[in-house]
Amino acid sequence: MVMVANTAAAAVSMSPPPTAPNTTVILGEPASAVLAWRVRWCKTGAAVRLAGKVALITGTAGGIGRAAALRFAGEGARVVAVDIVEANHETVEVIRAAGGTATAVHADVSDDAEIAAAVHTAESAYGRLDIAFNNAGIMLADDSDAVATSTETIDKTLDVNLKGVLYGCRHQIPALRRAGGGSIINTASFVASVGAATPQIAYTASKGAVLSLTRELAVIHARENIRVNALSPGPLRTELLMSYLDTDEKRRRRLVHVPMGRFGEAAEMASAALFLASDDASYMTGANLQVDGGLTAAYVTPE
Ligand SMILES: NC(=O)c1ccc[n+]([C@@H]2O[C@H](COP(=O)([O-])OP(=O)(O)OC[C@H]3O[C@@H](n4cnc5c(N)ncnc54)[C@H](O)[C@@H]3O)[C@@H](O)[C@H]2O)c1
Repeated sequence: MVMVANTAAAAVSMSPPPTAPNTTVILGEPASAVLAWRVRWCKTGAAVRLAGKVALITGTAGGIGRAAALRFAGEGARVVAVDIVEANHETVEVIRAAGGTATAVHADVSDDAEIAAAVHTAESAYGRLDIAFNNAGIMLADDSDAVATSTETIDKTLDVNLKGVLYGCRHQIPALRRAGGGSIINTASFVASVGAATPQIAYTASKGAVLSLTRELAVIHARENIRVNALSPGPLRTELLMSYLDTDEKRRRRLVHVPMGRFGEAAEMASAALFLASDDASYMTGANLQVDGGLTAAYVTPE
């Protein structure tokens, strides 16, 4: 990292970096402007939270994964962005256009060989892996209760949401060991902690399993300087949930349960993931960070 001193450029860039407003701007998607600011900040040599780190993130074409890729890159990380859809390249283009460093990898997280290749890409392109954010997930339309949900939906959901995380950890842990340690963040959900009378049973089972395996891996690897934590988002204004809550009535019904009275934003999850990825969370492992507008704390809501 280059230190800049006693120049006009340095004088401008040494103003404090944006903090809270950063989140708001990212939501409106002049994300590249924020990212460019953060990358410039990084290049001054001022403190950034992921300087020198290599981060692999899954599900980066949209939602939480995309927001995390932009945020981590803005904090100085070199990002390996993994997804199964072409739109993933756009995430990487935004990062590069802002002066950040990222590589797109086309991989299906439910395919062990493909996620192994993605980890290999991180090490071959950037020499190491420090952070893995296993975030890709699906929620299928006919996911319902135990009686009605098809076997195909159960298998597909567990393949992506559960095995996708487990295969990821299988290949990431040896890479983190080679780097001398690191941080894994697995995306679970509030449904891993509380039940609903309008179930998506395969999805819920998959997220409960993510939480359990995260705890266990945290304990197994705690003395290897490898931290493993879960991020449990509340209901978010992303494609995954909004395609399901596709009427005002359905959205209103869901918000009854959220004390803050609004859906969360992908950028707010990216901020939480950044905390878990960074040294700010150095004494945290095996935790379930619930970022849910108060949902899992609520007995009744304010109204
Ligand atoms: N949206 C919510 O309300 C909510 C709440 C709790 C937890 N979550 C979890 O957060 C994570 C991200 O959700 P989101 O809201 O950003 O969803 P999203 O649908 O906006 O993004 C998910 C991304 O994952 C990718 N993906 C799907 N299957 C994949 C596969 N097999 N291999 C690689 N990539 C794949 C998709 O292409 C997409 O880019 C998921 O694990 C989801 O279960 C979401």
